[in-house]
Formats: sequence, C-alpha cells, structure tokens
Amino acid sequence: MSKPKILSTRPLFPAARTILNEHFEVDYYPDRIPRAELLKRIADKDGLICLLTEKVDEELLSTAPKLRIASTVSVGYDNIDVPACTAHRVVATNTPGVLDDTTADFAWTLLMAIARRLIEGDTWLRSGTWPGWDLDHLVGGDVWGKTLGVLGFGRIGRGVARRSLGFNMRVLYNDAVRAPAEVEKELHAEFVDRDRLFRESDFISVHVPLMPETRHLISTENLEKMKRTAFLVNTSRGPVVDEGALAEALENKKIAGAALDVFEHEPKVHPALLARKDVILTPHIASASVDTRTKMAVMAASNVIAHFQGKRPPNALNADPLGLK
Ligand code: GLV
Repeated sequence: MSKPKILSTRPLFPAARTILNEHFEVDYYPDRIPRAELLKRIADKDGLICLLTEKVDEELLSTAPKLRIASTVSVGYDNIDVPACTAHRVVATNTPGVLDDTTADFAWTLLMAIARRLIEGDTWLRSGTWPGWDLDHLVGGDVWGKTLGVLGFGRIGRGVARRSLGFNMRVLYNDAVRAPAEVEKELHAEFVDRDRLFRESDFISVHVPLMPETRHLISTENLEKMKRTAFLVNTSRGPVVDEGALAEALENKKIAGAALDVFEHEPKVHPALLARKDVILTPHIASASVDTRTKMAVMAASNVIAHFQGKRPPNALNADPLGLK
C-alpha cells in the first residue's frame, strides 16, 4: 500500500524528519513557502505540517480534497480556521505544553532587559562613546519586590508567575477562568479584574491567545490606566497590542517602556516603535531554543502519525466536533 502523502512547509529538524519518513511520503518545502506554492502542493496531499505564518483556511481546504489533518508547529493556532477544518472533516492540531517554560524564560528575559536597559547599555558600549562609570548612567526600574500583572493565566502565564517568586514580587493575574485555589497559593497570585491589573502592575506580561475579544486588548484606554513607571511585555500574539496606541503612550510618557516579541503585521513593525530606545524588539523567538523547537516539530509530526494510525491525535483541536474517540 502506498504511504500517505504529507506536505511539510519546512524541512523541520532531523528528529522529526526521521519519524515522518518512516510513515509517509513527505514533500518538504525548503524555505518560506509562497501562498501559491502552498496551494499547489497541498492539492494532492493527505496531511499538512505547517507553521503559524501559513493560513489554513477555506481557500486552502477546498483546494485539498484528500486532506485529513493540518498540524501547526505552534501552540497558538490563530492561523487555522478550526471550524472550517471541521466542516471539511480535517483534524487540526497544535503543539501545547512543550514550549511553556522556554517561552516563560523569554518573557522574563525581555522583562529584565527592558527594566534594566540592557540593549541601550550594549549599544552604548559598542559605539565606543561610553566615558566610564557614572552615578546616573542608564538608571532603570527595579524588578525585585514589584508587582507583576499576568494577563492570561494559562501554562505560560503561570510559568512567568512562578519565576517571579525568586524576585519576591506580588503577582496579580486576570484570565477568563479563575485558577484553582492551590495554584493561586503556590504562585502567590491574586485574581483581579483587568482594570486593577492595569492600574496596579509595575510589569504587565501578556499571555492571552489571539481571539476577537483579545485583539487590541492593549489599547489607548488600557495604556492610560497603567503607571507611568510600568513596563509592558508581549510574547503572545502581536495584534493583542495596538502598536499605534503603544507608540503614542510611550511618546507621551504614559508608560516607561515595552518589550515585544510579536507584532501586529509581522514581519513589519510599526515605524514609530522601531525608532524608540524605550522599546525592545525581538523577532518572534520566545520558544526558540534548540530543544523546544525540536520537541515542537516532533510533536507536530506525532499528531500526524497518530491520525494515520487510526488514533486520536493527542493535540486535536476539533476532536469533539469531529467525534474522534
Ligand atoms: C509561537 O508563537 C507559538 O504559538 O508556538
């Protein structure tokens, strides 16, 4: 019997290729795949492994009549129209769990770097113009003992809160669902409404998924509520922040700084942010450790393998509507 045909929009990592090649005939696209090429190559495929930059939508699904599974190598799955997948009887999967700590580490990397003006210091030193130690050079904000506001208290948000214990911080959080009492106790975290979180936090770290309700959650109105000394960190999805509003808030000294790993219109960044010293910008790399990215690729591959072995893929997003057992 011939092997199912899979399109992988990237070469992935050797560990994932090894297991995929055992089970499938895999078409690995060597680089960033143009949309037209994606639509062409998916036409005769039974499965897809894609990245968060590739949309799995009605257009793609209707050009791929044999497609049975779409597996994104990411935890966020706003690139996948899950109801459309269900309508086409395509299982949609993502890669939750394996990137939580790596992403939480990176949120902390950004938090400390923006508070303590790390990039400004590095840039200054390299410019050859640093005259030597002085009392008022690059004075920043303290981290220890401050209040951390976590917006979105899922696995990653909780990981960020857990790391704050070592800095003796107060933790406020907001989420659609309140965490169990034992989690609140372990993380010394207090559930508050968004209004209080914006008003009382010294650092706000964003960990909500992108949904209609979270688009532009960081708006002019909410930025106005923040302390003038507060910092914003975003490692979730770019459109959660209204970049124009953020640039304006920084310009008007409504907040002290921002560190962003994700952007509204990737790979573009709002030009007003690019010009600012009180902003750190990184290219969507919060989960980018060798170990974690490898685990994500293997997990995406394992979802596809499980499906073609007649099992329920462990990370199926539409298992219930599809009636998967
Ligand atoms: C990265 O942004 C992911 O969703 O995995």
